[in-house]
Amino acid sequence: MPNKSLLILGDIMCGIVGYIGPRKASPILLKCLKRLEYRGYDSAGMAVLNSSLDVIKDSGKIDEVDTKHDFSKLGGKIGIAHTRWATHGEPNMVNAHPHTACNGDLALVHNGIIENYSTLRDLLESEGHTFQTDTDTEVLAHLIEKFYTGNFMGAVSKALIKVRGTYGIAVIHRNHEEIIVARNGSPLIIGVKDDETFTASDASAILEHTKKMIYLEDKEIASIKAGKVTVKNLFDKKIDKEVEEIGWDLDQIEKGGFKHFMLKEIFEQPESLRNVMRGRIGKTIKLSVNGTLSDCRRIIIVACGTSWHSALIGRYLIESIAEIPTEVDYASEFRYREPLVGKNDLVVVISQSGETADTLAALKEAKKRGAKTMGIINVVGSTIAREADTGIYIHAGPEIGVASTKAYTNQLVALMLLALDLRQSNGKTLDSNIISEIRGLPEKVDHVLKQNKKIKAIADAVADHSNFLYLGRGINYPTALEGALKLKEISYIHAEGYPAAEMKHGPIALIDENMPIVFIANKGKGYDKIISNMEEVKARRGKIIAIATEGDMDIKRLADWVIRVPETMDEVSPVVNIIPLQLLAYYIADRKGLDVDKPRNLAKSVTVE
Ligand code: F6R
Repeated sequence: MPNKSLLILGDIMCGIVGYIGPRKASPILLKCLKRLEYRGYDSAGMAVLNSSLDVIKDSGKIDEVDTKHDFSKLGGKIGIAHTRWATHGEPNMVNAHPHTACNGDLALVHNGIIENYSTLRDLLESEGHTFQTDTDTEVLAHLIEKFYTGNFMGAVSKALIKVRGTYGIAVIHRNHEEIIVARNGSPLIIGVKDDETFTASDASAILEHTKKMIYLEDKEIASIKAGKVTVKNLFDKKIDKEVEEIGWDLDQIEKGGFKHFMLKEIFEQPESLRNVMRGRIGKTIKLSVNGTLSDCRRIIIVACGTSWHSALIGRYLIESIAEIPTEVDYASEFRYREPLVGKNDLVVVISQSGETADTLAALKEAKKRGAKTMGIINVVGSTIAREADTGIYIHAGPEIGVASTKAYTNQLVALMLLALDLRQSNGKTLDSNIISEIRGLPEKVDHVLKQNKKIKAIADAVADHSNFLYLGRGINYPTALEGALKLKEISYIHAEGYPAAEMKHGPIALIDENMPIVFIANKGKGYDKIISNMEEVKARRGKIIAIATEGDMDIKRLADWVIRVPETMDEVSPVVNIIPLQLLAYYIADRKGLDVDKPRNLAKSVTVE
């Protein structure tokens, strides 16, 4: 585990930089912004204060936006800039940051998600504010404008008191030679150096200028002037902050101190899970899907790879919670098999990238046949997201490691919310236990992640084997498939996932002392049967790695290695159970010295057949 100050550095959504000092701001901001490119983004923008307040922004890569609009034409020594990873509203010029309000006096960049933006937007519109974008962020700009009476920091504090959600923000105002920054759940740091001050969401952006950093904590706000920083709470009380010196190099910082992006993304899961639930789960479920879902008679989920594994779990969830018949198909099979789908069917396509060629073709086929379509997508504004009739964004943030990890667990939570939403739409009551179990997932995942050292030791012990079998039952049969896929794609070890009961119909012939078998054996519906399967393996001298519930002592008798996970309801258990399997695959591949983030022959986005 890397050190804590690094762990809090990256925001999984977007990037912020700011500069105030004696030099021209735009070239410094441009260079700092490019340091954040590795994180993934879809738009870029900059605002600089001169005699006027000028903004340049557009969708596309930083260089493309620069070539088209020329950031260097922005004069002035105070500025903020942003790379956006869309969460609300498509990636286009209007939705790119910085955002302004009605009178153009201020510009603001924001990372995070404002949960109550639609209520605030209605209120501000009723007071005469005119909105230009589809973003959640724009409400903040209008709120600050509303509260501004000459005290800039005071107006930003008042605005922040009104919002619910996460933010890291930087704001500039035409009447003030300062940048106001604040954070809540989304990192923001201030870099100090003589008569210059920098700010960023990620230390890597400003490290070439200074290693001296002030770390803002949640609900702290700061006024940044050239060479002077004042930190307060939102109620105007001054806070003394220490200046800390960073001792890490750039590569370590980009990966948040982790050795690979994949490991960083595995560890980001408590946070990404919070993001997929944010604003959507209370006593009822609020998914804001377009059109009514209550008249759908059958659901067909189509996807590829890891997303197909989520689909299999989705079937289990939708049938048991929403009580609607559900089928699952590989997108590549669905598109070529004259599928019998029509107007009473809802076809749900799942895709992290939103660009997978087979999944897109399956979606088009379903639309052609008159079905309603829904996308469960990570990349906002991607082709599939635009083509589907309605959708749910999973808000996992950019996934850079080729092997999907945090997108998978967020897909699972999106499917849980969908199943609950469908049940609710059909007038049935919701089980409050499931709701609280879903809400508790980030803490449980965090708890499993803390066992990383133990999982690494198991990986070290088994890494030299050339075949693995993964077995699970019921809702955790797809967990076995996903665990096996993770291992094979990054470690190049042959691994099979099977429903545990199928073992005796063939795979049992493979078992001997050279075959590690990973059992998903936590307490739940199929527990006793899984134990019998373990007995069968033990009798054939197979080596057992068991994912088991805390407190289950019986399992020790059968398993060579036990990885404990907290007790959960069956419905949410796949999220908790996949974490040790992601880590096991990662540590085995890393021990073999492989390029974990870019495994051979694989691409992050499969846009060809
Ligand atoms: C495995 C993996 C792939 C993708 C598959 C679909 O770790 O990442 O199996 O899940 O290529 O990609 P998306 O979800 O982008 O459609």
